[in-house]
Amino acid sequence: MTMKILIVVSSKHRQNTLQLAEAMAEAAPATIAEIGDIKYYKPADYDVIGFGSGVYAGKFDGKLIEFAKGLDNDKKCVFVFSTSGTGNYEKYNKQMVRLLESKNKVVLGNFGCKGLCKWFIFAIGGGMAKGHPSEEDFDAAQAFIAEVAQKYEALENT
Ligand SMILES: Cc1cc2nc3c(=O)[nH]c(=O)nc-3n(C[C@H](O)[C@H](O)[C@H](O)COP(=O)(O)O)c2cc1C
Repeated sequence: MTMKILIVVSSKHRQNTLQLAEAMAEAAPATIAEIGDIKYYKPADYDVIGFGSGVYAGKFDGKLIEFAKGLDNDKKCVFVFSTSGTGNYEKYNKQMVRLLESKNKVVLGNFGCKGLCKWFIFAIGGGMAKGHPSEEDFDAAQAFIAEVAQKYEALENT
């Protein structure tokens, strides 16, 4: 049986994070749910859940955080990713990683890249992080999801 992956995404600025999720879904059998539609999905039906967001004023979208807070405490494999103007995902993903760990989730991976930002004064000169996500970023996202899938399989077989 192939593993089932659900990627829950909030991507409200320029759909940068959604594009990253779409690249991941080309490399692994994944269903993408935008956070506004999450009520139509049943997380329990999936083996692995991804949490992806653009970064807004230093944080993941509040709706994605609320969704994660509402999860049960059953053990489940998850992964976290983000796009941001700076691409500093270790810093930005931390809150979501900790929240998921507090819910008994096993974080199989943590990823991120830069995403074009044209918000407010950052629009000057064509925006911050121009050209991102780039082809290299999409390749890295696909390598990332392949690694997550491998880790899941390895855990299942132990
Ligand atoms: C309101 C707003 C606030 C932002 N705050 C930050 C920030 O604190 N740090 C950062 O690196 N990028 C910041 N950005 C840039 C976005 O994180 C970046 O463009 C991201 O790729 C947007 O993802 P999305 O298109 O999936 O929404 C901000 C963008 C917006 C619109």
